[in-house]
Amino acid sequence: MLKGKHILLGITGSIAAYKAAVLCRLLKTAGAEVQVVMTPLAKQFITPLTMATLSKNPILVEFFDPENGAWNSHVALGEWADCFLIAPATANTLAKMAHGIADNLLLTTYLSSRAPVVVAPAMDLDMFAHATTQRNLAELRRTGVHIIEPADGELASGLAGKGRMAEPAQIAAFVDALLDEKKKSLQGKRFIVTAGATIEAIDPVRYISNHSSGKMGYAIAGELAARGAEVLLVSGRTALPAPAGVTRYDVLSAEEMYQAVVKAFDTADGAVMCAAVADYTPEHYTDHKLKKDDGGLVIRLQRTKDIAAELGRRKAGRILVGFALETDNEEAHAQEKLRRKQFDFVVLNSLRDAGAGFRGDTNKVTFIDAAGSEALPLLTKGEVAQRIADKIERLIQK
Ligand code: CTP
Repeated sequence: MLKGKHILLGITGSIAAYKAAVLCRLLKTAGAEVQVVMTPLAKQFITPLTMATLSKNPILVEFFDPENGAWNSHVALGEWADCFLIAPATANTLAKMAHGIADNLLLTTYLSSRAPVVVAPAMDLDMFAHATTQRNLAELRRTGVHIIEPADGELASGLAGKGRMAEPAQIAAFVDALLDEKKKSLQGKRFIVTAGATIEAIDPVRYISNHSSGKMGYAIAGELAARGAEVLLVSGRTALPAPAGVTRYDVLSAEEMYQAVVKAFDTADGAVMCAAVADYTPEHYTDHKLKKDDGGLVIRLQRTKDIAAELGRRKAGRILVGFALETDNEEAHAQEKLRRKQFDFVVLNSLRDAGAGFRGDTNKVTFIDAAGSEALPLLTKGEVAQRIADKIERLIQK
């Protein structure tokens, strides 16, 4: 899909700039034309010669060439681009973009371009988590900038955390999907996806949780986003990076997930409830570490709120997709959940099926709806996500 597309690749002064070389190669190999624009500081991290060679175009950094006065027109650059991709994007550049500061060629181009803008932030974990950076990102998101969330991992500072630029292949795939108009079937739709395991704290050290890896929910969030939907991924604990183009909101407990999801549902077109939400939580949280003694220990549990059931009550024409993980009498249980929670359809997993369930990369599911059941073969979780998105599309068209 990138064949013949004009990608303006912005590089800013981050150590992750070395990955821009790989990214440029990937875009070129996919058939795109690439023009690189760098901030002055970016030249300290990767040389213009490297990027000019890979992109097969001279690099642009300054407003004009001091030798001969030739003008690098930010307006023409902005018009040329089918997509302005800034990778890596530093906290500094993101802040300037959010506030309209235009003190280099990359930033003036940003202001004058009407092309879709994609940023892949890269910075230290504390800079990324800082309220100012988060505010700037929220502002950019509000104005339509696509943000490819950084991953969790080892950082140049030696620290580990969220701030590593997404991998070049993920960034290239995002741009590819963004420019692929055929796949934009869910453009303008808003979806909430819940994923991962909730954590119910017993004391500051212990908790009750489950084996959910979050992979299925993350795959669904990514698939809906790739089809153009605006996706809020409300995520319990997982080790996964947010899929490209998805807004992720991290929660711990079932109660936190309930609050976040119910609030967002008002303005959503639908929700896919993939999280493994704890059904019970300790009645009392002990704010100090519980000490053992020789006897046993009884922890009283109380029911959590059923998030899906609450959305079912507030549904009013929205699409609601549920999951059911069963070990016996599977279809009957799933049918019961379909009715009780007012799901449009339930994605049923049976723990009895090989290749289904937690942690793996495959899943074997059956769709259950009012019309009956449809058993799918063993598929990757990505393929299952596509089937779910196809079914959601059919429901929207009805
Ligand atoms: N769900 C939810 N909020 C909860 C519990 C479950 O949103 N507090 C959602 C799940 O994300 C899933 C569906 O409801 O989509 C699962 O239904 P549920 O009845 O909770 O399944 P189980 O916990 O497996 O039920 P049971 O113990 O009755 O088998």
